[in-house]
Amino acid sequence: MWLPLHTVCLRRQTVCRRSFVGAFLKSTRRHRGDAAASAFSHSAGLGAQTCKALLYRKHGDPSQVVQLENIDLPTVGAKDVLVKMLAAPINPSDINMIQGTYAILPDLPAVGGNEGVAQVVEVGSQVKSLKTGDWVIPKDAGLGTWRTEAVLSEHDVITLPNDIPLLAAATLGVNPCTAFRMLSDFEDLKPGDSVIQNAANSGVGQAVIQIAAARGINIINVVRDRPEFTQLSDRLKAIGATHVIKEEALRRPEIKNLFKTCPRPKLALNGVGGKSATELLRHLQFGGSMVTYGGMSKQPVTVPVSALIFKDVKVRGFWVTQWKKDHSNDGRAFRAMLDELCDLIKQGKLTAPVCTEVGLQDYSKALDTAMKPLISAKQVLML
Ligand SMILES: NC(=O)c1ccc[n+]([C@@H]2O[C@H](COP(=O)([O-])OP(=O)(O)OC[C@H]3O[C@@H](n4cnc5c(N)ncnc54)[C@H](OP(=O)(O)O)[C@@H]3O)[C@@H](O)[C@H]2O)c1
Repeated sequence: MWLPLHTVCLRRQTVCRRSFVGAFLKSTRRHRGDAAASAFSHSAGLGAQTCKALLYRKHGDPSQVVQLENIDLPTVGAKDVLVKMLAAPINPSDINMIQGTYAILPDLPAVGGNEGVAQVVEVGSQVKSLKTGDWVIPKDAGLGTWRTEAVLSEHDVITLPNDIPLLAAATLGVNPCTAFRMLSDFEDLKPGDSVIQNAANSGVGQAVIQIAAARGINIINVVRDRPEFTQLSDRLKAIGATHVIKEEALRRPEIKNLFKTCPRPKLALNGVGGKSATELLRHLQFGGSMVTYGGMSKQPVTVPVSALIFKDVKVRGFWVTQWKKDHSNDGRAFRAMLDELCDLIKQGKLTAPVCTEVGLQDYSKALDTAMKPLISAKQVLML
């Protein structure tokens, strides 16, 4: 079977984002008889090679609609690389894409997965920026990383040092980048300042804790209650959390005592929405910002009138996919961020989130587990 690689439609702009994943688009355009296909037809023939991939042909419950299949690989064109995928996480956005509820959706059938690390095993004759052995990650969303091999344009990927831990590399391109940007781009945070966040045990949350700690920033972390709260709290404190608080505790008056020893936060990071977000807002300092990056509770954000009038809080949003798109013409910003994050990894200041490594054949269980509450471990497909 020849699988057309993704075109991803950005629903809110109602345009097809054809700019990324060149290899995917090449084949899609050929399928559609698009006149522009010749511009991309350097590897028009079907290759004899195949790979395994987690494929979905319709939207729905991930463990029901995703299947492990053999798909053909195209031949490697002059500006392409053949990569061997090494590891790829299952993130909430991957789940939402399969469910058909995410802001960008690939054409179907599609290979699941947006993030992961791969090793270059073959380079086309005109490839300049990559060599065999390099570790690479996708530059953008929509690559379809849950597969054993892929033929990609050299411009679709960016290198990472191959002496960092594999799981750190596999989970670097989305969550730590999101954490890095949110801690850098919204408030001028100095050592001693405070940040508050919910979903603190999430992949994003664990990266926020570690990057904030490396910058000397106090980080107040809110998590849902659970039987193993103490273990979770200890684990988050071990990676740099200043305080770990249950959602319910955040609503109690005694929480004011916390701000006797720690300044009120300049920045709140909201991955949950609903009441949890409202509570974060209540604790911001005058003029502070709340940045919403996720909506795990599927509840809207309600902003108290008093927070707007008496504290003049700023209510913002962040999407790392948009940031990457906005910076796609100038690769230096992404490169600089990855270099800084990799330096933190090498110094032992940034580690991968707690992960459960899963064989590709166990994908169905992994997809179900990734959707369960209170798991506190990222499912990572070992490819
Ligand atoms: N905007 C962006 O650029 C961007 C980038 C990366 C991620 N995200 C989003 O950020 C969120 C977290 O992603 P991730 O990969 O870090 O997640 P993750 O590692 O899979 O963790 C999921 C987190 O969500 C929490 N959660 C799930 N359902 C919840 C609910 N109903 N109420 C409160 N908390 C709930 C979990 O807490 P429990 O342990 O209590 O279940 C856990 O902390 C997702 O919404 C994702 O799409 C956005």
